[in-house]
Amino acid sequence: MFRFLRVALLAVLSTVAIRAASAVEPAADTTPKADASRLVFLLQYVGADYAAAVADGKIVDHAEYEENREFAGQIADLLARLQPSIPPGKSAAIEPPVRRLVELVEARGDPRLVRDASESAIPRLVEVFELRAFPRDRPDPARAHALYAENCAVCHGGAGGGDGSRAKDLDPPPARFTDQARMSEAAPYVFYNAITLGVANTAMASFADSMSDQERWDLAFYLWIFTLGNDTRPALPPAVVISLRDLATRSSRELAPEILRRAAAVGQPLDAEGAERWVAELRARGLSLPKRARASVSIARFV
Ligand code: HEC
Repeated sequence: MFRFLRVALLAVLSTVAIRAASAVEPAADTTPKADASRLVFLLQYVGADYAAAVADGKIVDHAEYEENREFAGQIADLLARLQPSIPPGKSAAIEPPVRRLVELVEARGDPRLVRDASESAIPRLVEVFELRAFPRDRPDPARAHALYAENCAVCHGGAGGGDGSRAKDLDPPPARFTDQARMSEAAPYVFYNAITLGVANTAMASFADSMSDQERWDLAFYLWIFTLGNDTRPALPPAVVISLRDLATRSSRELAPEILRRAAAVGQPLDAEGAERWVAELRARGLSLPKRARASVSIARFV
């Protein structure tokens, strides 16, 4: 189900394995911060993918379950390695949810609880290790557009359909950013991690060395452009304020109910699809919203 992400995760895990196998092998980045990023990526993965493995205390997909279990083991190992770097006052906020997630997976616990544990630990890891879960500056769609055409379209396709000129030779094939279900569940922070870390055993390289941090964020936000189809008219934003942090770290599906609630409260009712579309507009077109919308007193804004 989350094959793209799973392979990306293998890249993370193989780095861990290489490090474990040989202390002298120079790893890509051995700082606690890098380990914390890997841990976040693992938590993002299990938090989302475990639901495909277990339902009502029963394994519904053995391969998925084994994989999630293995990842939970890696999560436990990473936590153990990170422990000395966690300030004593902070460990109470990080270790319990991470351990709970590991235990829940082992015990075939409720996927919702696994997701809760993941969602509770990630912001705390981000805080303690000062990870960038959202960009410093507003993502720039024009810059992303140019970067995409130059670096990504050859595989992912000019319209994000995974059908660039190199795609036919690639196994696995490039991700499709037109896949509504995937785009609804993902968040720019997840894509940022994939673009930054690369995807082992696939054609997807790390762009950490060739692009600035901000450029990788620009792209991670921009990829929602491909869910918007040919309609270039930006949807008028509802009267809500949404933070750049939320736009970066929370999925469209997670954000939609909150947007609906706030929009309804000020008499701008939307449906769920409209709310998700609006999230996509804001991520992918950001500053290029029309003047009228920007001037409106009820403009949604980045905070
Ligand atoms: C040489 C081909 C190639 C190029 C160039 C390339 N990618 Fe990829 N990308 C892939 C492949 C193949 C995958 C799928 C890997 C897998 O199956 O997990 C992928 C996966 C991804 C994913 C993960 C999607 C998900 O659903 O988790 C993101 C995000 C991504 N690419 C973004 C980019 C961006 C942005 C660029 C340009 C800076 C880029 N890629 C350039 C081949 C490429």
